[in-house]
Amino acid sequence: MLHWTIMTLFPEMFAPLQSSILARATKAEKIKIDLVNFREYSTDKHRKVDDYSFSPGAGLVLTCQPIADCLQAIDPDHRAHRIFMTPAAPVLNQTKVETLAHYQHIIILCGHYEGVDQRVIDACFDEVISIGKFVLTGGEIPAMVLIDAVSRYVEGVINPASLCDESYVGDKLEYPQYTRPREWQGRMVPEVLLSGNHAAIQKWKNAASNVVTQKYIKGEGENER
Ligand SMILES: C[S@@+](CC[C@H](N)C(=O)[O-])C[C@H]1O[C@@H](n2cnc3c(N)ncnc32)[C@H](O)[C@@H]1O
Repeated sequence: MLHWTIMTLFPEMFAPLQSSILARATKAEKIKIDLVNFREYSTDKHRKVDDYSFSPGAGLVLTCQPIADCLQAIDPDHRAHRIFMTPAAPVLNQTKVETLAHYQHIIILCGHYEGVDQRVIDACFDEVISIGKFVLTGGEIPAMVLIDAVSRYVEGVINPASLCDESYVGDKLEYPQYTRPREWQGRMVPEVLLSGNHAAIQKWKNAASNVVTQKYIKGEGENER
Protein backbone atom coordinates (compact mmCIF):
# COMPACT_ATOMS: atom_id res chain seq x y z
CA MET A 1 0.00 0.00 0.00
CA LEU A 2 1.32 3.43 -0.92
CA HIS A 3 -0.20 6.27 1.08
CA TRP A 4 -0.26 9.68 -0.62
CA THR A 5 -0.99 12.90 1.25
CA ILE A 6 -1.48 15.96 -0.94
CA MET A 7 -1.09 19.40 0.61
CA THR A 8 -3.12 21.79 -1.53
CA LEU A 9 -5.24 24.93 -1.38
CA PHE A 10 -7.55 23.45 -4.03
CA PRO A 11 -8.58 19.91 -3.01
CA GLU A 12 -11.53 20.01 -5.42
CA MET A 13 -9.05 19.80 -8.32
CA PHE A 14 -8.27 16.17 -7.50
CA ALA A 15 -11.56 14.65 -8.68
CA PRO A 16 -9.80 12.89 -11.64
CA LEU A 17 -8.05 10.57 -9.18
CA GLN A 18 -11.47 9.07 -8.40
CA SER A 19 -11.77 7.47 -11.85
CA SER A 20 -10.50 4.42 -13.69
CA ILE A 21 -7.43 2.50 -12.53
CA LEU A 22 -6.57 4.72 -9.56
CA ALA A 23 -10.16 4.49 -8.28
CA ARG A 24 -9.94 0.68 -8.43
CA ALA A 25 -6.52 0.74 -6.73
CA THR A 26 -7.94 2.89 -3.94
CA LYS A 27 -10.91 0.57 -3.49
CA ALA A 28 -8.57 -2.44 -3.39
CA GLU A 29 -6.41 -0.63 -0.77
CA LYS A 30 -3.31 -0.71 -2.95
CA ILE A 31 -3.06 3.07 -2.66
CA LYS A 32 -4.63 5.65 -0.34
CA ILE A 33 -4.96 9.33 -1.25
CA ASP A 34 -5.57 11.97 1.44
CA LEU A 35 -6.14 15.63 0.62
CA VAL A 36 -5.17 18.27 3.16
CA ASN A 37 -5.96 21.94 2.72
CA PHE A 38 -3.08 23.65 4.50
CA ARG A 39 -5.11 26.86 4.72
CA GLU A 40 -6.76 25.19 7.73
CA TYR A 41 -3.42 25.46 9.57
CA SER A 42 -3.00 29.21 9.03
CA THR A 43 -2.83 31.11 12.31
CA ASP A 44 -3.84 34.33 10.52
CA LYS A 45 -7.29 35.52 11.60
CA HIS A 46 -8.37 35.59 7.93
CA ARG A 47 -6.70 32.22 7.19
CA LYS A 48 -4.23 33.99 4.88
CA VAL A 49 -1.55 31.71 3.39
CA ASP A 50 0.34 34.09 1.10
CA ASP A 51 2.14 37.42 1.09
CA TYR A 52 4.04 39.71 -1.25
CA SER A 53 7.44 38.58 -2.49
CA PHE A 54 10.58 40.36 -1.35
CA SER A 55 11.59 40.25 -5.05
CA PRO A 56 10.20 43.43 -6.62
CA GLY A 57 7.63 42.79 -9.35
CA ALA A 58 6.93 39.18 -8.40
CA GLY A 59 3.47 38.05 -7.28
CA LEU A 60 2.22 36.37 -4.11
CA VAL A 61 4.31 33.74 -2.35
CA LEU A 62 2.95 31.02 -0.05
CA THR A 63 4.21 31.56 3.50
CA CYS A 64 6.11 29.11 5.72
CA GLN A 65 3.83 28.95 8.77
CA PRO A 66 0.72 27.12 7.44
CA ILE A 67 2.86 24.63 5.51
CA ALA A 68 5.19 23.86 8.43
CA ASP A 69 2.31 23.55 10.91
CA CYS A 70 0.38 21.30 8.53
CA LEU A 71 3.41 19.01 8.18
CA GLN A 72 3.84 18.96 11.95
CA ALA A 73 0.23 17.77 12.29
CA ILE A 74 0.22 15.12 9.56
CA ASP A 75 3.81 13.82 9.83
CA PRO A 76 5.22 14.88 13.23
CA ASP A 77 8.22 12.52 13.15
CA HIS A 78 9.06 13.13 9.48
CA ARG A 79 8.51 9.50 8.52
CA ALA A 80 7.04 10.29 5.09
CA HIS A 81 9.02 11.20 1.99
CA ARG A 82 8.18 14.85 1.32
CA ILE A 83 8.17 16.26 -2.19
CA PHE A 84 7.60 19.84 -3.40
CA MET A 85 6.40 20.13 -7.02
CA THR A 86 8.16 23.00 -8.80
CA PRO A 87 9.38 23.76 -12.31
CA ALA A 88 12.73 24.79 -10.79
CA ALA A 89 13.80 21.18 -10.19
CA PRO A 90 15.06 18.00 -11.88
CA VAL A 91 12.50 16.77 -14.41
CA LEU A 92 10.63 13.55 -13.54
CA ASN A 93 11.64 10.42 -15.44
CA GLN A 94 10.73 6.73 -15.35
CA THR A 95 13.68 5.77 -13.14
CA LYS A 96 12.57 8.26 -10.49
CA VAL A 97 8.97 7.03 -10.86
CA GLU A 98 10.02 3.43 -10.12
CA THR A 99 12.14 4.51 -7.14
CA LEU A 100 9.32 6.49 -5.54
CA ALA A 101 6.98 3.48 -5.71
CA HIS A 102 9.02 1.87 -2.88
CA TYR A 103 8.00 4.45 -0.28
CA GLN A 104 5.10 3.73 2.08
CA HIS A 105 4.01 7.34 2.57
CA ILE A 106 4.66 10.29 0.27
CA ILE A 107 3.57 13.86 1.01
CA ILE A 108 3.30 16.24 -1.95
CA LEU A 109 3.14 20.01 -1.57
CA CYS A 110 1.38 21.87 -4.40
CA GLY A 111 2.58 25.43 -4.87
CA HIS A 112 0.53 28.24 -6.39
CA TYR A 113 0.91 31.88 -7.49
CA GLU A 114 4.62 32.85 -7.59
CA GLY A 115 5.62 29.78 -5.57
CA VAL A 116 6.53 28.94 -1.97
CA ASP A 117 8.91 30.62 0.51
CA GLN A 118 12.17 28.72 -0.04
CA ARG A 119 12.92 28.47 3.69
CA VAL A 120 10.09 26.00 4.37
CA ILE A 121 11.17 23.91 1.38
CA ASP A 122 14.77 23.80 2.64
CA ALA A 123 13.73 23.05 6.22
CA CYS A 124 10.95 20.51 5.71
CA PHE A 125 11.13 18.78 2.31
CA ASP A 126 13.27 15.90 1.03
CA GLU A 127 13.05 16.47 -2.69
CA VAL A 128 11.86 18.83 -5.44
CA ILE A 129 10.42 17.50 -8.70
CA SER A 130 9.35 19.16 -11.94
CA ILE A 131 7.05 17.43 -14.44
CA GLY A 132 8.54 19.23 -17.44
CA LYS A 133 10.17 22.29 -18.88
CA PHE A 134 7.11 24.54 -18.74
CA VAL A 135 5.21 26.48 -16.08
CA LEU A 136 1.67 25.65 -14.91
CA THR A 137 -0.58 27.74 -12.66
CA GLY A 138 -0.27 25.37 -9.71
CA GLY A 139 1.20 22.12 -8.40
CA GLU A 140 -2.11 20.22 -8.45
CA ILE A 141 -1.81 18.85 -11.99
CA PRO A 142 1.90 17.99 -11.45
CA ALA A 143 0.93 16.15 -8.24
CA MET A 144 -1.68 14.13 -10.13
CA VAL A 145 0.87 13.30 -12.84
CA LEU A 146 3.30 12.05 -10.19
CA ILE A 147 0.66 10.01 -8.34
CA ASP A 148 -0.59 8.41 -11.55
CA ALA A 149 2.88 7.50 -12.84
CA VAL A 150 4.19 6.15 -9.51
CA SER A 151 1.01 4.28 -8.48
CA ARG A 152 1.25 2.14 -11.65
CA TYR A 153 4.36 0.59 -10.06
CA VAL A 154 2.65 -0.32 -6.79
CA GLU A 155 2.05 -4.06 -6.62
CA GLY A 156 -1.47 -5.03 -7.64
CA VAL A 157 -2.37 -1.73 -9.35
CA ILE A 158 -1.83 -2.92 -12.93
CA ASN A 159 -0.77 -6.12 -14.65
CA PRO A 160 3.05 -6.34 -14.16
CA ALA A 161 3.47 -7.50 -17.77
CA SER A 162 2.31 -4.06 -18.90
CA LEU A 163 5.27 -2.49 -17.10
CA CYS A 164 7.97 -4.52 -18.85
CA ASP A 165 7.65 -3.62 -22.47
CA GLU A 166 6.81 0.07 -22.64
CA SER A 167 8.33 3.45 -23.43
CA TYR A 168 11.13 4.67 -21.13
CA VAL A 169 11.58 1.30 -19.41
CA GLY A 170 14.66 0.63 -21.52
CA ASP A 171 16.43 3.14 -23.71
CA LYS A 172 13.77 3.00 -26.43
CA LEU A 173 10.20 4.17 -26.98
CA GLU A 174 7.49 1.58 -27.57
CA TYR A 175 6.58 0.28 -31.03
CA PRO A 176 3.09 1.23 -32.39
CA GLN A 177 0.10 -0.86 -31.24
CA TYR A 178 -2.71 -2.23 -33.44
CA THR A 179 -6.03 -4.00 -32.82
CA ARG A 180 -9.01 -5.14 -34.88
CA PRO A 181 -10.14 -4.64 -37.59
CA ARG A 182 -7.25 -5.70 -39.81
CA GLU A 183 -8.14 -2.94 -42.24
CA TRP A 184 -9.44 0.51 -41.27
CA GLN A 185 -10.10 3.17 -43.91
CA GLY A 186 -7.65 1.48 -46.26
CA ARG A 187 -4.91 1.29 -43.61
CA MET A 188 -3.66 -2.22 -42.84
CA VAL A 189 -2.25 -3.75 -39.67
CA PRO A 190 1.40 -4.71 -40.47
CA GLU A 191 1.23 -8.18 -42.04
CA VAL A 192 3.89 -9.66 -39.74
CA LEU A 193 1.68 -9.08 -36.66
CA LEU A 194 -0.91 -11.45 -38.17
CA SER A 195 1.65 -14.14 -39.03
CA GLY A 196 1.85 -15.90 -35.64
CA ASN A 197 5.64 -16.03 -36.16
CA HIS A 198 6.95 -14.89 -32.75
CA ALA A 199 10.54 -14.40 -33.87
CA ALA A 200 9.47 -12.26 -36.82
CA ILE A 201 7.07 -10.27 -34.62
CA GLN A 202 9.85 -9.61 -32.10
CA LYS A 203 12.13 -8.46 -34.92
CA TRP A 204 9.39 -6.12 -36.19
CA LYS A 205 8.84 -4.71 -32.67
CA ASN A 206 12.55 -3.92 -32.31
CA ALA A 207 12.76 -2.25 -35.69
CA ALA A 208 9.55 -0.24 -35.16
CA SER A 209 10.75 0.79 -31.72
CA ASN A 210 14.02 2.04 -33.24
CA VAL A 211 12.12 4.13 -35.79
CA VAL A 212 9.97 5.85 -33.12
CA THR A 213 12.96 6.39 -30.82
CA GLN A 214 15.04 7.87 -33.62
CA LYS A 215 12.19 10.18 -34.62
CA TYR A 216 11.17 11.52 -31.19
CA ILE A 217 14.19 11.16 -28.91
CA LYS A 218 17.30 11.20 -31.04
CA GLY A 219 15.90 13.03 -34.03
CA GLU A 220 14.08 16.16 -35.01
CA GLY A 221 10.96 15.45 -32.92
CA GLU A 222 12.45 16.65 -29.65
CA ASN A 223 11.21 20.02 -28.38
CA GLU A 224 14.38 21.10 -26.60
CA ARG A 225 14.88 24.59 -25.23
C1 LIG B 1 3.13 29.65 -11.51
S1 LIG B 1 4.05 28.36 -10.75
C2 LIG B 1 5.41 29.22 -10.05
C3 LIG B 1 6.57 29.27 -10.99
C4 LIG B 1 7.81 29.91 -10.39
N1 LIG B 1 7.62 31.32 -10.20
C5 LIG B 1 8.99 29.64 -11.33
O1 LIG B 1 9.19 30.43 -12.23
O2 LIG B 1 9.66 28.61 -11.15
C6 LIG B 1 3.07 27.97 -9.34
C7 LIG B 1 3.25 26.56 -8.82
O3 LIG B 1 2.87 25.63 -9.81
C8 LIG B 1 3.61 24.43 -9.68
N2 LIG B 1 4.24 24.12 -10.98
C9 LIG B 1 4.16 24.87 -12.10
N3 LIG B 1 4.82 24.32 -13.12
C10 LIG B 1 5.32 23.15 -12.65
C11 LIG B 1 6.11 22.11 -13.23
N4 LIG B 1 6.52 22.16 -14.50
N5 LIG B 1 6.44 21.05 -12.45
C12 LIG B 1 6.04 20.99 -11.16
N6 LIG B 1 5.31 21.95 -10.55
C13 LIG B 1 4.95 23.02 -11.28
C14 LIG B 1 4.60 24.65 -8.54
O4 LIG B 1 4.08 24.05 -7.37
C15 LIG B 1 4.66 26.15 -8.44
O5 LIG B 1 5.01 26.58 -7.13
